[in-house]
Amino acid sequence: MFITFEGIEGSGKSTQVDLLKNTLEKIHFDVVSTREPGWGRVGSLIRKIILDYDDIEIEPIAELALFCADRAQHVQEFIRPKLSEGKIVLCDRFYDSTIAYQGYGRGLDPEMVKKLGFSAALGVIPTITFLIDISVNTALSRIIERPGRNRIDDESFEFHNRVRKSYLSLYKNQSNRIFLIDGEKSINDVQSEIRKVLKNRFSIFKRLEKFDKL
Ligand code: ADP
Ligand code: TYD
Repeated sequence: MFITFEGIEGSGKSTQVDLLKNTLEKIHFDVVSTREPGWGRVGSLIRKIILDYDDIEIEPIAELALFCADRAQHVQEFIRPKLSEGKIVLCDRFYDSTIAYQGYGRGLDPEMVKKLGFSAALGVIPTITFLIDISVNTALSRIIERPGRNRIDDESFEFHNRVRKSYLSLYKNQSNRIFLIDGEKSINDVQSEIRKVLKNRFSIFKRLEKFDKL
């Protein structure tokens, strides 16, 4: 089972990944968590190029190629082997991010971005995706204090708004895979919504019931 988390910056993806991982471990699921970009040696080098410098200009298509390279390595070296071992893999961002950010944020041809982003996933498709939605104002207020603000965090309100809108349209077209979660609610309410979706959709997660009774 491959569970991905999407949303604009500060929507609470990494908070929710950590909480879900802890919960699933408590009820003895074999679970690992990861994120994009930046897994492994190649990924951390690519992450550095894409995010760490605010004094270099990267062409949108070059940025797309870098995210795709990061993904292919991540899938080949980590995600696919873990899935083959039968583990549940939780991933903070995957190919929907590429469509939203490079396709609509940067304005590259969305069809081309979809094809490349999908090819870089080497055939691995998320079983389910949680899109945690917040307003751009909430996002900006949450990330303003963030110590490791990066090149993309610093993009304009309009950029983040395009990304948010494109996520919402991905959800509308793929509501069988993508679940929309209101990220303006409290951290605990968001987590309980995620558990509810998992419990209702997959029988293996029936055990999550006990957390709602606590
Ligand atoms: P992301 O991984 O999507 O960028 P984070 O999980 O790092 O987001 O959260 C960004 C900031 O917002 C953190 O300081 C976190 O504690 C806070 N946060 C996350 N979820 C919520 C929430 N539902 N309500 C209020 N603050 C939140
Ligand atoms: P990071 O700090 O890891 O994530 P977050 O802000 O969600 O906590 O930053 C990753 C940045 O990379 C984020 O701004 C989204 C961007 N990104 C893309 O533009 N395209 C992609 O394909 C991926 C995976 C991420």
